[in-house]
Amino acid sequence: PASALRDRDGVLEVGGVSATDLAERFGTPLYVLDESEVRAHARRAREAFTAAAARHGVQARVYYAGKAFLSTEVVRWVTDEGLAVDVCTGGELAVALAAGAEPSRIGFHGNNKSVAELEAAVRAGVGSIIVDSRIEIERLAAIVERLDAHQRVLLRVNSGVHAETHAFLATAHEDQKFGFALEDAADAASRVREHARLELVGLHCHIGSQIFASAGFAESAARLVALYASLRDGGDLAVLNLGGGFGIAYTSADEPIPIEELADGIVDAVARECDLRGLPMPDLAFEPGRVIVGQAGVTLYEVGTTKPVRVDDTITRLYVSIDGGMSDNARTALYGAQYSARVASRSSDVAPALVRVVGKHCESGDIVVDAEYLPGDVSIGDLLAVPATGAYCFSLASNYNYAPRPPVVAVCDGTARVIVRGESVDDLLARDAGIAPGVDQER
Ligand code: LLP
Repeated sequence: PASALRDRDGVLEVGGVSATDLAERFGTPLYVLDESEVRAHARRAREAFTAAAARHGVQARVYYAGKAFLSTEVVRWVTDEGLAVDVCTGGELAVALAAGAEPSRIGFHGNNKSVAELEAAVRAGVGSIIVDSRIEIERLAAIVERLDAHQRVLLRVNSGVHAETHAFLATAHEDQKFGFALEDAADAASRVREHARLELVGLHCHIGSQIFASAGFAESAARLVALYASLRDGGDLAVLNLGGGFGIAYTSADEPIPIEELADGIVDAVARECDLRGLPMPDLAFEPGRVIVGQAGVTLYEVGTTKPVRVDDTITRLYVSIDGGMSDNARTALYGAQYSARVASRSSDVAPALVRVVGKHCESGDIVVDAEYLPGDVSIGDLLAVPATGAYCFSLASNYNYAPRPPVVAVCDGTARVIVRGESVDDLLARDAGIAPGVDQER
């Protein structure tokens, strides 16, 4: 799946820049993001959904789900490619606004948006706030009243379709925190409509992430259309937002279906359900995150130690320790995610050995790549590349064990530049009131 990686004399290249050059200039661990890949995936997703919608005579707006990877530069790339932006905290909103994203093309999510966050969003003029609870409706109503403002709102609905990675199963009352249950949505809609300054413009649902089949999306969309039918009230519900969640290949074992096929499957399901009910087809919206940035990212590490560990009589596993770990990629530890790895700094003819790529943190679950075959002579000083780390690695990074978070470098047509600077230990110490003056202030 490492479409960003190209071999040149055994040295891997990303976006036309060699991995060894990148490591020398910027150090390791290093997040590398290929700008043309991000742009290409953004364009492809926009085209897939808008084309699918156009076949049924409606429009589709594609939001980039910023939680996957957010920086001002990435916001500029995706908005340049015609995407809107989905944010889910005041912090993400601030990044999108700082990047110059058109406020009317920002959607704001979250199950516990604070008064301050909602106020910032209303003042900025965000295009839609996706409300998640009755308390939030009243909170938002009070804010727009106080600010003498007007706000477009979507209702987040829990369609009851819970998408697992490869299958989906439906439960009447899914036990999770997001959205209004289908049977509570009518009450929520009338509460929004009671407030003249709030405008109910649509319904939203999101069924999960890293999903490979369109069946779960189609089922959820059909349920949302049924709700749309009962809540339309003469047509103020113009938009159905069906969220994100489209899967990518992390290893060669993953075979996601093309986004065009997914888009067609989902949009056709909406059209079919509207037809059955004799309804006009609403405009649609989607929120892909992972599929835009996931494969465009590669993380580079340097090998520090290797250690053969006898697992049993037949298996010896080589533990390869790198200079990062669960602080820059928590996904393996958190979700049992699968990644692949390659030696990036040289080629080797030595027979492959079964390795586990582990980090430098103080726990045995600190695994980046659980099982991989690398040349048996992999050793100290080798650079390792872990592809498909563009989504939910930088954004989930932590300072566990006082690890400074790595920089992000964008590569494009043979050039490389820092788009997020790395942290230093001094950055981390600067927060410690015991040694840094002026830190112990109350807010
Ligand atoms: N829209 C909403 C309302 C969401 O909650 C999410 C993801 C998305 C869109 C984007 O989903 P995507 O297209 O990226 O799958 N940390 C996890 C993924 C969490 C996803 C949370 N919501 C991971 O690393 O796999």
